Amino acid sequence: MKDYLHATNNLYTQAALTPDVGLCCTTTPIWKFPGLDIPKKMLEMNYGCGSTISLQDLSNSPKVLYVGVGGGMELLQFAYFSRFPNAIIGVDVVDEMLEACAQNLQEAQKINPWLNTNFVELRKGDALNLPVQDASVDVAAQNCLFNIFKTEELKKALQEMYRVLKPGGRLVMSDPICEQEMNEELRNNDHLRALCLSGSIPLKDYIKALTDVGFGTIEIRARRPYRILDTENYPTSENIFIESVEVCAIKDPMPADGACVFTGKAAIFYGKDDFFDDGKGHTLFKNQPLAICDKTALALANLNRKDIFISESTFHYNGGGCC
Ligand SMILES: C[S@@+](CC[C@H](N)C(=O)[O-])C[C@H]1O[C@@H](n2cnc3c(N)ncnc32)[C@H](O)[C@@H]1O
Repeated sequence: MKDYLHATNNLYTQAALTPDVGLCCTTTPIWKFPGLDIPKKMLEMNYGCGSTISLQDLSNSPKVLYVGVGGGMELLQFAYFSRFPNAIIGVDVVDEMLEACAQNLQEAQKINPWLNTNFVELRKGDALNLPVQDASVDVAAQNCLFNIFKTEELKKALQEMYRVLKPGGRLVMSDPICEQEMNEELRNNDHLRALCLSGSIPLKDYIKALTDVGFGTIEIRARRPYRILDTENYPTSENIFIESVEVCAIKDPMPADGACVFTGKAAIFYGKDDFFDDGKGHTLFKNQPLAICDKTALALANLNRKDIFISESTFHYNGGGCC
């Protein structure tokens, strides 16, 4: 096993034995649904940097795989929507984390009358070699784990998620990203990498890693400030700004002209006619914003029309639109 993966296992063994409230931080609200109570220890062990829980993915009681269980809070939140035995498979490589997660779920069962711990099946396993059958889950999720992986492992981890998803299934992820160059000292610091501070990559590379393994649709659902690596406390000569993103990658067939990536752009037609039809399946009704993927945004921009406005990316896409 590579050194940085060893360092990661060691760090999360400690984080399982002694909850570390400041380990990862998120400005995403903790979703508390009606009738859902989250045990204090689960909250203390929230080691994610966003949320992978989105209502649009969770109708019809999906079968869910969650990789890198942490204290189990998101497994509990997924179980809220899928209430049947073994609905949620939780995979983790650290025994102590699986043990802590199991205990936290027992606590959760005491305060949530609807919950049966048998909704969640915990399995020892590695994100790089998932103990899960091909095409067997509707939703696969990971929060703040894949950013730790270097290029080769990230590719393997994404291939594994793609393999286990059913056609049309969704990979939901939350991870830090960073648009600035990080020096080699930061990149090669195994401890900072394990802390989710020095592995993050630019958003376009993160998206490319997803489309390279075959995901045909990508949705950027949220993008938020996350951390500063400052010159006083980290080996860097300039402050480095890290953001976090929430992304959904859908196992749709890959379009011939490349994946549809929704980053929150919209087109508005404001010409003389009632609508504009580009002849390629996109109809813009007058003064009605239409969510468009980045490919369509570029194609419409290339028409150079004075009566079509194309917005910047909001990085807040929640469905609907052109494709
Ligand atoms: C930053 S924590 C995130 C925990 C959880 N997802 C959350 O949001 O609170 C990373 C988790 O991934 C687990 N982990 C680390 N390396 C792993 C691997 N190679 N395969 C599976 N899980 C791993 C750790 O034990 C830990 O539970």
